[in-house]
Amino acid sequence: MRDSEHIKTVADTWQEHWKNSDMAPDSSRQGRFLRWYISKFGGFAINRLVLTVLEKQLGSPKGKSILDAGCGTGLNSLPLAARGAEVTLLDIAPEALNIAETYYQELELKANYVSGSIFEMPFEDGEFDLVWNTGVIEHFEPRERKQAVSEMLRVMKPGGFMITFNPNASAPVYQRAKAKAEARGTWDVGFELPIETLSADVSPDEYEVTEWSLGWFFQYQFYKYLIPSALKIPFVATHEVTQSLLPFLNRPEGYFLVSLIRKKQK
Ligand SMILES: C[S@@+](CC[C@H](N)C(=O)[O-])C[C@H]1O[C@@H](n2cnc3c(N)ncnc32)[C@H](O)[C@@H]1O
Repeated sequence: MRDSEHIKTVADTWQEHWKNSDMAPDSSRQGRFLRWYISKFGGFAINRLVLTVLEKQLGSPKGKSILDAGCGTGLNSLPLAARGAEVTLLDIAPEALNIAETYYQELELKANYVSGSIFEMPFEDGEFDLVWNTGVIEHFEPRERKQAVSEMLRVMKPGGFMITFNPNASAPVYQRAKAKAEARGTWDVGFELPIETLSADVSPDEYEVTEWSLGWFFQYQFYKYLIPSALKIPFVATHEVTQSLLPFLNRPEGYFLVSLIRKKQK
């Protein structure tokens, strides 16, 4: 498939984002702190939140082949690698994969790092027990999103499953903060279309889609776009500590729409 102008713009936006990312575990004070934090806690509160959901569906990750398509920093799949999964990290931005590799190496964890597009992944049909991502397909137009879902399903093993975590079209706090940030010009991750459902993106005869929402407290993180920049780090740090200490705050409906897709047994 030939990439549309929109797909290229999304790739360019993210390549630029990762080049200047404040998530880089570099030699700066912040970079060294991030390395220490990830080594000590195995990720952020949000990584632990998605892990809880995944493990319920997956059982033990040991020996399972897992593709994180649009992995960014790879931190969502890092605990799976730590629990013995064979993790493949794919992203369009090589800079994101470099960041991921630094975090994994710090913990002596292995992964396959693949630079490529979710629209045409360099994998055989049915290679992975689990194909997943968080925060990727909402960056595409609905027609493109459907193509990305279809490519993710192509590489899923028979009997495996696909799961995505995306901004929920019914998350009021996030929606308000995003709209205000866009109006003020402080929204920095480009096009993002919250999702109502992925049901229409797959054939109902072939696939079963189960969806639910969580991440009530996580939504408030988007206020970082609306406060003075000097307060951003203290705000994000306080939000992170609160979520870590009170994980139940994320159980009610909120930022994430979780979409679990399995092939129907004939
Ligand atoms: C919002 S970030 C999410 C990163 C990560 N999944 C997370 O939750 O932290 C979106 C990611 O999608 C990647 N991306 C954008 N276009 C892509 C494409 N065509 N193929 C694969 N990855 C892409 C970006 O580089 C970026 O890492």
